[in-house]
Amino acid sequence: MRLFDTLCMIGSRFQLPGTVYSFEQITQGNINSTYKVSYRMPDKSIKSYMFQRLNTVVFKNPREIMKNIDNVTTYIRKNFPSETVLHFHHTSDGDNFFFDGDGSFWRVMNYIDSITFNVCEDLSVIAATGEAFGHFQMQLSGFDGSVLYETIPDFHNTRKRLDTFFSHVTEDPYSRVNDATEEIEYISSVRLKAGELSDRFAKGAFPVRVTHNDTKCNNVLFDRVTKRPIAVIDLDTVMPGMSMVDFGDAVRCIANTADEDEPDLSRVFFDTAKFRAFCKGYIGQVKDALTADEIDNMVLATFTITVELGMRFLDDYIMGDTYFKTDYPEHNLVRARCQLHLAKDIQKKSDELNFIVHDELEKARQGR
Ligand SMILES: Nc1ncnc2c1ncn2[C@@H]1O[C@H](COP(=O)(O)OP(=O)(O)O)[C@@H](O)[C@H]1O
Ligand SMILES: [Mg+2]
Repeated sequence: MRLFDTLCMIGSRFQLPGTVYSFEQITQGNINSTYKVSYRMPDKSIKSYMFQRLNTVVFKNPREIMKNIDNVTTYIRKNFPSETVLHFHHTSDGDNFFFDGDGSFWRVMNYIDSITFNVCEDLSVIAATGEAFGHFQMQLSGFDGSVLYETIPDFHNTRKRLDTFFSHVTEDPYSRVNDATEEIEYISSVRLKAGELSDRFAKGAFPVRVTHNDTKCNNVLFDRVTKRPIAVIDLDTVMPGMSMVDFGDAVRCIANTADEDEPDLSRVFFDTAKFRAFCKGYIGQVKDALTADEIDNMVLATFTITVELGMRFLDDYIMGDTYFKTDYPEHNLVRARCQLHLAKDIQKKSDELNFIVHDELEKARQGR
């Protein structure tokens, strides 16, 4: 079927009124296929929707994902009625998804007039991204995260990942362990510290929050004119977890001075100015929503998640490059070195980073 006909068919399944007027593919995301489809309404006005074909190779349990999204968006809509939140349409069967004849999984949401940024270099965009994810966490602070499906089990169970990693090092099925002795030694030296938060979480030390798990700036919609954040989108990986993991993963990515696969480690640093900008936006939103213990562990979470990702790249290298897409044979090893180098820099700067967190908290409390 031609794409146009497919989109018309999908729209009718979701009971959209009017007729398809135009459509365009959105190239910003890189997981799902997203189309902006505009309809001419019976009253002749034009209304746009976002049609998405979910990548079911990546997301194996789409029904659970849609249930999580429904839970979270319904909660925000109910408790923050004046704010913008993703709205998903339903089929005549009452589902917020539809499997077409090819087995593709479709969903339809309202189009929110906005812009997204693909690069996050500007400190004001970084602060606004922090504000958006902080606001999302604040909106959901009264929501019991444990009702959500853990759609990717143990995704951030660092302790479990560490144990698996070291058993793979022992197996060494591709004889690659020798290429990474220094990196393995480093992970071994921080094993206790990197596993601390997930151990404490398993014992119930932190509240079970809603985590987004893909806290990139192109998952925030911004107002075209004011450049203020409107809404957090891309809720496919919403799961129960620790609030600090989302924070840590966001700054791990945003405050890295180089690309995730930079081979020249002299260019890889953790940028404290960018960290402060993100903190400013984030903490302003969560200052009354998170516990003191959660805030006190934001920097440890940043270190943890960076070690975790470095270890995941190295694990994939050792196990024959089956998970992450690679462009050249040592790509995962290069990525691992880059993350572990970043982790060392975070470790070195941790007193300064903790000072920034509490300084921004103090400023937010005083309304500065
Ligand atoms: N409801 C929406 N309104 C406006 N733009 C959207 C909406 N949903 C998605 N987009 C745009 O489409 C892009 C890809 O969507 P996203 O849900 O993030 O998919 P992916 O999982 O592929 O990243 C976003 O970065 C954003 O630019
Ligand atoms: Mg996205």
